[in-house]
Amino acid sequence: MVEAPSSGNLTLDGMERREHWETVYQTKKDAELSWFQDQPTLSLAKIGAMRPLPRRVIDVGGGQSALAGQLLGLGVEQVTVLDISGAAIQRGRERLGAQADRVRWITADVLEAGDLGEFDLWHDRAVFHFLTKREDRSAYAARAAAAVIPGGSMIVATFALEGPPKCSGLDVCRYDAAALAREFAPFFEPVSATTEVHRTPWGSSQAFTYAVFRRIQGPGGVGGRGSVDRAGTST
Ligand SMILES: C[S@@+](CC[C@H](N)C(=O)[O-])C[C@H]1O[C@@H](n2cnc3c(N)ncnc32)[C@H](O)[C@@H]1O
Repeated sequence: MVEAPSSGNLTLDGMERREHWETVYQTKKDAELSWFQDQPTLSLAKIGAMRPLPRRVIDVGGGQSALAGQLLGLGVEQVTVLDISGAAIQRGRERLGAQADRVRWITADVLEAGDLGEFDLWHDRAVFHFLTKREDRSAYAARAAAAVIPGGSMIVATFALEGPPKCSGLDVCRYDAAALAREFAPFFEPVSATTEVHRTPWGSSQAFTYAVFRRIQGPGGVGGRGSVDRAGTST
């Protein structure tokens, strides 16, 4: 993993984080967002290839993304989208039009949201990499572990080691597949990983590490929902 700088960095906490993202979505069009994708092709390919198709999927940080609508099209029964920004969620709702009511929308910080329920798949493209504090990453892993059923899946996409050091003006941590796997052990085991070079709307390249994990069941994992305690287990 390439850590964000430890001093003078652009890392946000709680309220600041929410204000940052509200401002982004209130002031920028899709074509001005470096992460924007017309089609979330790789995520869709990975999810569409899963057998059985996951029944309950959460897209963390997916308010503005086209993924929710595509998941409905794939036949996913319950699609949940969580985003810290209400403006992002509003954009996602508008994109889906009449279909928006088929999605469960949650405006919340993933680190602070209450019980999210159970999922067969947790998807995160470009949210985890903003967590530059070890305790936040541990809390995130525990939260994902509590929400994904044993045997369920998780897809996490972050900037790769050769990716940019910042996203949306904020410092990020960059990962290869092994470093990402360490972040989510012992709750998840790595299944596969891919590098994707994303083209921003203005044509620059950003390398992503796309990792697929399986939630471990049995003694290697954790007790049950709500009983996750990562204290002291982070590497
Ligand atoms: C870089 S964008 C990626 C958007 C989307 N996943 C995609 O691939 O197009 C990060 C998204 O995560 C949301 N976000 C950032 N931090 C978050 C947090 N702590 N909890 C929930 N959402 C968050 C932002 O509002 C933004 O929509």
